[in-house]
Amino acid sequence: MYKIIRWFLFKLNPERAHHFTFNSLKILFKFPKVDLLCRGFFSSNNPKLEVEVFGLHFKNRVGLAAGFDKDAKLYHELSNFGFGFIEIGTVTPLAQPGNEKPRMFRLPQDEALLNRMGFNNEGALAAAKRLKQQKANIIIGGNIGKNKNTSNEDAASDYLKCFEALYEVVDYFVVNVSSPNTPNLRDLQDKEPLTKLLLELMQLNQSKPKQKPVLLKIAPDLTNSQLDDIIEIVATTKIHGVIATNTTIDRNLLHQEKEYALTLGLGGLSGKPLTKRSTEVIKYLHQKSHAAFPIIGVGGIHSVDDAIEKIKAGATLIQLYTGFIYEGPSLIKEINQRLIKENLN
Ligand SMILES: Cc1cc2nc3c(=O)[nH]c(=O)nc-3n(C[C@H](O)[C@H](O)[C@H](O)COP(=O)(O)O)c2cc1C
Repeated sequence: MYKIIRWFLFKLNPERAHHFTFNSLKILFKFPKVDLLCRGFFSSNNPKLEVEVFGLHFKNRVGLAAGFDKDAKLYHELSNFGFGFIEIGTVTPLAQPGNEKPRMFRLPQDEALLNRMGFNNEGALAAAKRLKQQKANIIIGGNIGKNKNTSNEDAASDYLKCFEALYEVVDYFVVNVSSPNTPNLRDLQDKEPLTKLLLELMQLNQSKPKQKPVLLKIAPDLTNSQLDDIIEIVATTKIHGVIATNTTIDRNLLHQEKEYALTLGLGGLSGKPLTKRSTEVIKYLHQKSHAAFPIIGVGGIHSVDDAIEKIKAGATLIQLYTGFIYEGPSLIKEINQRLIKENLN
């Protein structure tokens, strides 16, 4: 069934397909019982799937990665597709249009996407307002970033503003310093600025009546010595975990469409080409840190086996984006069914 829907969606340009899917789901879920039907079809309610991670109770380990529901417009409908959690964002303090279109491309032979969206979003307060209006019945992560026009020197204040805006309405936070699509953002992954940024954020967190888990999302393109720094930074700043990984800038991971991809310009690659590298990063962090913190594994999960590999490499939770586009929502259920069977919890 999804193959037919995908055939149609893949006839549209990727960003139009995204908006078309969004609008269609919005309309579809206005009909009575669609939510029930959808849950019946895709959800796997089983106590064996439940996990407690950084003080939060997850119905299952499979989440929707950041970037799909950037503005928290569809989390309610998406919560019926079997996910255990949904990450909204990346949001920035001020609304911004993102990069010029076209900025999202399919590489179907490689089962990949290339995007340079550039944090297009309506701002952290707009997302917070939506989350306030309709209480989520699923764990919600808030992925936060800085505006394009904010210098790296002033970046901390942008992250603090987003934290304040979303504090009441999200269950955990993700500090995104790993998108390749905001100029120089990834420089914030360096030890000194990153430690400073996270310490400031954790200080604000400490001042709140209830602390929220704070995670760091990293790029797959970091070297082992940079990953060693990340392990040290997590220990110093006492943040709660790491999301590995964001998209890659490495075009050599493409097998079929590398030449074509090179004509498309800048952007981050996601999907199948990322599977192996993101698993390597998870494994390295898990082993080198002696499992000191939880890792959310993301990058190229297109099959049940990909998901199991991420968990075996050390991921406590997993997320998908591109695999959700290529394989459809039944993949979530298939992963959860295997998790029940293999008793990996
Ligand atoms: C179109 C698109 C937009 C994305 N936007 C964001 C974003 O705003 N913030 C973020 O942290 N990650 C973003 N990502 C990265 C994903 O969350 C994920 O880390 C990455 O795509 C690897 O997972 P995948 O191979 O399952 O897609 C985006 C990915 C895609 C394809």
